[in-house]
Amino acid sequence: MNTKVTIADLIKAKIEGKKIAAVSCYDYLTAKLVAQTNIAMVLVGDSAAQLVLGFDSTLPATMDFMVAITAAVRRGAPNVCLVADMPFLSYQVGLDEAVRNAGRFAVEAGVQIIKIEVTSAHLDVIKKVSDAGMAVMAHIGMRPQNIGKIGKLKAEGTTAEMAAELIELSKQVVDAGAVCLLLEGVAAEVAEIITKNTGVPVIGCGSGPGCDGQILVAPDILGLSDGPKPKFAKTFGQIGKASLEAFEKYAAEVTAGTYPDDAHCYRMKQGQLDTLRQILKDKIH
Ligand code: KIV
Repeated sequence: MNTKVTIADLIKAKIEGKKIAAVSCYDYLTAKLVAQTNIAMVLVGDSAAQLVLGFDSTLPATMDFMVAITAAVRRGAPNVCLVADMPFLSYQVGLDEAVRNAGRFAVEAGVQIIKIEVTSAHLDVIKKVSDAGMAVMAHIGMRPQNIGKIGKLKAEGTTAEMAAELIELSKQVVDAGAVCLLLEGVAAEVAEIITKNTGVPVIGCGSGPGCDGQILVAPDILGLSDGPKPKFAKTFGQIGKASLEAFEKYAAEVTAGTYPDDAHCYRMKQGQLDTLRQILKDKIH
């Protein structure tokens, strides 16, 4: 992308029926690769707590950590539409704190959209952050920050009653000021209804093909993550396998003494070794 993708471009894509590709990524080098593709939106998700730091939930992601990695992603991908994830406790404690934390992403990391996992209990947060001049992506459906309360994440909107509640919530969050939606783990039929009935772009994460765009985490796309993956996490590459092979080859060459060879060494300037030997005389072997 040669010019910065903005929310206006995403709305245009929705109107024109063009699908939006998005990815959750957490580091400078991966962001640089993403920036060379047609991926329009990059989210720096709090899934970094699991996929970068190795925790078993998203809860341990802190603001300082999220701001640091988000700024790194922005340096790698200056023109993508950059979205930052408000981590656990960055917006639940108070409205002022929510605005201050959201503002850190805009000021310190060049973020364009602030993603917040929400229920109807968080409409005031959306309004406050939006009124402060920041674009909000309302993340509804499966909400990983809720794991402590429910124990296990499961698909949302799978019954008519749950679906009706979610559809209602999608309207409330837009009324509160959200400029786009992220639907995670929502039954495909319900995600399609929400998408068709809102003017804002809807990015789906495991919510079926009816959304305006799709997002997956980069380690899943690349085949880098191990362990059980959600049903929707399709792998498009085998970077994990290729990386393992590279590390194995490296270790084998180091232990065999074949790395480094001459091509991978610095050498003294011509004649300098003899001069050095003269200087050191019999002090070295
Ligand atoms: O944290 C994250 O990466 C996310 C995506 C999976 C949507 O919220």
